[in-house]
Amino acid sequence: MLGTGLIGFFYTMALHGQRSRDRVSCVYSRNADRAHAFAKKWNIDHTATDMAEAIHHSSSDIVVIGLPNHLHEKAIQLCIEANKAVLCTKPLARTAEEAKRILDAVEASGIFAGYLEDLVYTPKTLKALDSVRQGALGEILWTRSREAHSGPHSSWFWDVDQAGGGAIIDLGCHCIEIIRNFIGKDIRPLEVSCWADTLVHPIDAEDNGIAMIRFENGAVGQFEVSWTFRGGMDLRDEVGGTQGTIWLNHFLRTGFEMFSSGAGGYVAEKAEQESGWLFPVGDEVHELGYTDMFTDMFNAMDEGREPRETFYDGYVVNAVIDACYRSVRSRKWEPVKLQDWRGRTDVERVGKLKEMVDGMELVKRECLPDGKIKLILKNLDTGEVTQRLLAGNND
Ligand SMILES: NC(=O)c1ccc[n+]([C@@H]2O[C@H](COP(=O)([O-])OP(=O)(O)OC[C@H]3O[C@@H](n4cnc5c(N)ncnc54)[C@H](O)[C@@H]3O)[C@@H](O)[C@H]2O)c1
Repeated sequence: MLGTGLIGFFYTMALHGQRSRDRVSCVYSRNADRAHAFAKKWNIDHTATDMAEAIHHSSSDIVVIGLPNHLHEKAIQLCIEANKAVLCTKPLARTAEEAKRILDAVEASGIFAGYLEDLVYTPKTLKALDSVRQGALGEILWTRSREAHSGPHSSWFWDVDQAGGGAIIDLGCHCIEIIRNFIGKDIRPLEVSCWADTLVHPIDAEDNGIAMIRFENGAVGQFEVSWTFRGGMDLRDEVGGTQGTIWLNHFLRTGFEMFSSGAGGYVAEKAEQESGWLFPVGDEVHELGYTDMFTDMFNAMDEGREPRETFYDGYVVNAVIDACYRSVRSRKWEPVKLQDWRGRTDVERVGKLKEMVDGMELVKRECLPDGKIKLILKNLDTGEVTQRLLAGNND
């Protein structure tokens, strides 16, 4: 485990959870005291203050990277040199160029690699994706993903050089991969229109952003990210298809509401208060997807297949983020530049209704308050749009 910060803590909690036999065998921190304290808390046998030593340690067969963004490439390079499997947290890199270098190096080396994008593994998301795959929503036209909280917990996040950006790279990377999963990871993201601004915090990076991503089949992804949202962590997704809709709320108001007049300690990540009405999360590492994510990663290794989330996915996410930042600067739609596209190239446009009524194309059917059914119809020869009430009451 590289890193003893917030994500190192959550990953270890997930890996050591329940009756799991998976174990963190060695933990790396620059600071020996922090490494020892972490090892004591989680009952880990070995510590290291040198990153290469932890990676090469004989007890380490898989390396989990929980370090700031600017250290991902260095850590992955060391894993390649040590010929160790590597699982890297999000975002894979700070730019698509850096991500592509990582991807190429890892693929050339042949080591196993997985992209730790937990939010596509939440139990709700896995079920929702299954329903989408089974056609419950018809064709997916639109996906909205929102992640917002009051800002990150460590200084490096606020530094553009180390993080690669602000709220967009930090939170938008989750949203983009959620959107890709629902719209189809094989559908190419073509272009992006993005707004961002620094509304509150005294930083160079953006603390708010909104983007629209247009996919080759006409579907649209929309994300909203904020480091200035007050009231906890807001994680919501909405999926719209030709035949159905899904709304997901992963964190606040998920069915667990508690009132406390005193300080009861930690409530949930980024919760801003310990008293009043609170929205705790039952099993945070499970509900945020960490448990299912590691299960998929390790099963993939055992089965000799790729995990659901790969470094290639991380590269595509970085390419979309790059286009977001270009669009913020140009104030125009900007192309998503993917040197390496592995998805489909033969896509049809989504969403065309093809139902015909008496030689006319059905535009819309609606049941009115008086119980009558109204049809809106288009004459394909003239283009004229007319309406008809069923049961012979044309008007
Ligand atoms: N849901 C998620 O998937 C999720 C959530 C939070 C963070 N992350 C990602 O995890 C990574 C770490 O984030 P975090 O929240 O754990 O940050 P953190 O600040 O809580 O922890 C970072 C760790 O890296 C160490 N570190 C910092 N600078 C270092 C340096 N120069 N050399 C060596 N070690 C250094 C710190 O001591 C600490 O152990 C980031 O890439 C972040 O985007 C992912």
